[in-house]
Amino acid sequence: MKQENNAKAILAIAMKLSKPIAYLIILLVTYTMGYLIASSSSSPPPFSSISELTNLPNQLDHFRVTTRCSDRPVQPELVRQTILDRVFNSRSPYDNFPPPHVRDLLRTKRVKGWGSYGAVFDHLVRSVKPRIIIEVGTFLGASAIHMANLTRQLGLRTQILCVDDFRGWPGFRDRFKDIGMVNGDVLLLQQFMQNVVSFNFTESVLPVPFSSASALEKFCEWGIFGDLIEIDAGHDFNSAWADINRAYRILRPGGVLFGHDYFTAAANRGVHRAVTLFAQFHGLKVMVDGQHWVIDSS
Ligand SMILES: C[S@@+](CC[C@H](N)C(=O)[O-])C[C@H]1O[C@@H](n2cnc3c(N)ncnc32)[C@H](O)[C@@H]1O
Ligand SMILES: *[C@@H]1O[C@H](CO)[C@@H](O)[C@H](O)[C@H]1NC(C)=O
Ligand SMILES: *[C@@H]1O[C@H](CO)[C@@H](O)[C@H](O)[C@H]1NC(C)=O
Repeated sequence: MKQENNAKAILAIAMKLSKPIAYLIILLVTYTMGYLIASSSSSPPPFSSISELTNLPNQLDHFRVTTRCSDRPVQPELVRQTILDRVFNSRSPYDNFPPPHVRDLLRTKRVKGWGSYGAVFDHLVRSVKPRIIIEVGTFLGASAIHMANLTRQLGLRTQILCVDDFRGWPGFRDRFKDIGMVNGDVLLLQQFMQNVVSFNFTESVLPVPFSSASALEKFCEWGIFGDLIEIDAGHDFNSAWADINRAYRILRPGGVLFGHDYFTAAANRGVHRAVTLFAQFHGLKVMVDGQHWVIDSS
């Protein structure tokens, strides 16, 4: 290669010069060679603008997803067993709970939520009368247990699926020192389950301990749809946007999607923008109930 021979000759001269100058020349030569090599390879031209990207004729759905939702929805009365079969080897995760190695690390009841008792829950449970509620973001179960209580009082036979990776967020134990940890495994799932046991809601509340992305994709593939879906997991724009879009695909026609932090400080971090953009995109109306946003698809 001619370029390389030239570079070697320049390097040889540089070696004879004083050290600082030599280093400078070596630096320049290697930088230039890197530039020449990079620009001679054939990479596709970058997109010049967002509109060029979104106007590609074959990209009908800019939020393309790989999974198709099942066209045979699981009947509400079969949803619990479907989750037990697919996620828990056909056994209830509450069987023989708590296991001996965590028993002493759990508190009988340890609940803490954010806006988890807002009137919005009562309003929506009454108006939607949901058979299936999907909660995305559960933490210790404050809002899930509250909804379970509301549905029980109304005599509804509701199943609540609690999607959460039960990791909290990096560093959350600064504020929740009393949540146990075993070899780096934080006991959020176990403390949530203990709370459900203590409030006697094990028949109506099931954890789905995975990331929102993977759980909601699987629900869609399995045909698990929600009448009421609450979004309260990651509060940055990208997380909220992804969760809302995935949840909308598994919302039963006429169902209601709602979520926390439309007006609270966390809204600055993206929930507000994600909800507004989503509603604009689908021509839906955003209603506000306390700290929550509500999108009624009916
Ligand atoms: C604000 S808390 C939920 C509070 C609960 N809804 C309440 O009112 O009591 C947020 C939860 O979302 C969960 N979370 C955050 N990002 C997640 C993700 N990508 N997948 C699954 N769970 C996630 C965290 O583990 C945390 O428990
Ligand atoms: C359930 O609702 C009743 C009536 O509002 C209330 O007194 C009770 O404390 C609630 N229980 C839980 C676990 O939220
Ligand atoms: C617990 O809930 C079940 C319904 O799921 C009910 O039949 C039972 O009486 C409740 N037990 C207690 C101790 O409240």
